[in-house]
Amino acid sequence: MLNRRELLCLAGSGAISLMAGCGGGIWPHAYAAEDVIFQPDVELALQATVAENAILPGRPTPVWTYQGRLIKGDAWHLIDAEESYLGPTIRVRRGQKIRIHFYNELPEESIIHWHGLHVPADMDGHPRDVIPSGRKFTYEFEVCNRAGTYWYHPHPHQRTGPQVYGGLAGVFIVSDDEEEALHLPTDEFDLPLVIQDRRFADNNDLIYLTHPMERMTGFLGNRILVNGRPRYRREVVSRPYRLRILNGSNSRIYNLAWSDGRPLTVIGTDGGLLPSPLVRPNVILGPAERVELWADFSGMDKGDEATLVSRALDLGPLSTMMGPGGMRGPRRGGRFLPNGAPFAIANFKIAHLDKADVQLPERLAAPPPDETEEAVNRHTPRRFHIAMNHMRGVINNRVFEMTGVAEDEVVKLGTQEIWEFINRGGMPALPHPMHVHGLQFRVLGRLGALYDGYLDKGWKDTVLLMPGERVRLMMRFEDYDGLFLYHCHNLEHEDMGMMRNYYVRAA
Ligand code: C2O
Ligand code: CU
Ligand code: CU
Repeated sequence: MLNRRELLCLAGSGAISLMAGCGGGIWPHAYAAEDVIFQPDVELALQATVAENAILPGRPTPVWTYQGRLIKGDAWHLIDAEESYLGPTIRVRRGQKIRIHFYNELPEESIIHWHGLHVPADMDGHPRDVIPSGRKFTYEFEVCNRAGTYWYHPHPHQRTGPQVYGGLAGVFIVSDDEEEALHLPTDEFDLPLVIQDRRFADNNDLIYLTHPMERMTGFLGNRILVNGRPRYRREVVSRPYRLRILNGSNSRIYNLAWSDGRPLTVIGTDGGLLPSPLVRPNVILGPAERVELWADFSGMDKGDEATLVSRALDLGPLSTMMGPGGMRGPRRGGRFLPNGAPFAIANFKIAHLDKADVQLPERLAAPPPDETEEAVNRHTPRRFHIAMNHMRGVINNRVFEMTGVAEDEVVKLGTQEIWEFINRGGMPALPHPMHVHGLQFRVLGRLGALYDGYLDKGWKDTVLLMPGERVRLMMRFEDYDGLFLYHCHNLEHEDMGMMRNYYVRAA
């Protein structure tokens, strides 16, 4: 017999329409009936703690980090992040049940959010569920998502920016049968690359928010770190790799490309593999977005190098205004690196030649369904105006309220809706990477696009809106009712309150 969580996952895949909902419905709460039946396949502990990490030469940098420990399951479920401050990479298969014991050993409250995962509201790491310092919280959920690259990070109200910046973040990888059948590169040929920017004081301490203007524009570092390392270099062999790139930065936008001008071969986005590979000269990646690349080093010679770079992106007056240099404010931590400035991200050098029998598949995954007709509001999209207003980040003129939901933020479980995020610009005109919790959406269209490097394909949970742009999204509210967040993933904007709840009401 299937238990309720398996039924929920099936419901998610469309095999069974709407079970009783979750956290509500006929089961009053996620703990009511299933404590008895929840048998985790994987069980682990994540401890958020204060530590030191040697990032730059000299004195180690005080950081905040997640330390992982596997309690139940095979070693591949929890992979250490190569001595960096990043949390361990968690790997699970779709359909597996996972229990995670979160211990908060930080000097302040925190909570973990599973970015991109479709989990019940009370497992989602909502700021109302923050855990005080010294306390613990146990997560239990079944992984229903498609194979893909997700991540986890803290989500306490007004403290997400500093906690992520301090080092709290990790990659969460889901695999499934559909993906396995493709025989994509695995093990050391399947590389997560977490891109972040940081600024360091002379004593190697991290610098965060030195000028009030940085709160409004978003904080920018002047050193690019990959997997917690500056000047990231890696020896590779002459064969294809799968690169899982996460923009784990607070506010920096990357314009990814290969330095030698050859195009990027894109195989996946936030919510997993695309229907088929896409070839693009460059890809713009906003905070929290992911892109998966097929990086084929075949045909290169020993000693040859390939460099992933961020190309210049003209963000207008913004790029010079953003940061202490531009603001003529205090200039701590050296040179200012504007948003949109070009730089190298990661260097790959062929250490030896190799042949591998891996082909880039022509078809990667089933295409997302075209269900525009099924949206209950197809003639009247739900609109959200994102703006910076008198130094306050607002969505439809409202700031975050912990459990507050407006009437126009209530949706019905089991329905699909068209949502529109609108960035009118405002004063100052800023980019806003908009993220919705609890689901994966599709981008139906973008109006007023300023650039052509957006990757609006496949399943997404975060979409970048430049000033003047408007995007139309297909949302699907299934399986779980309750309170979920949507917000700007510029973490300084989020902490300023550019975040709201939406409520999924059980039918
Ligand atoms: Cu990645 Cu609400 O967060
Ligand atoms: Cu999220
Ligand atoms: Cu924003």
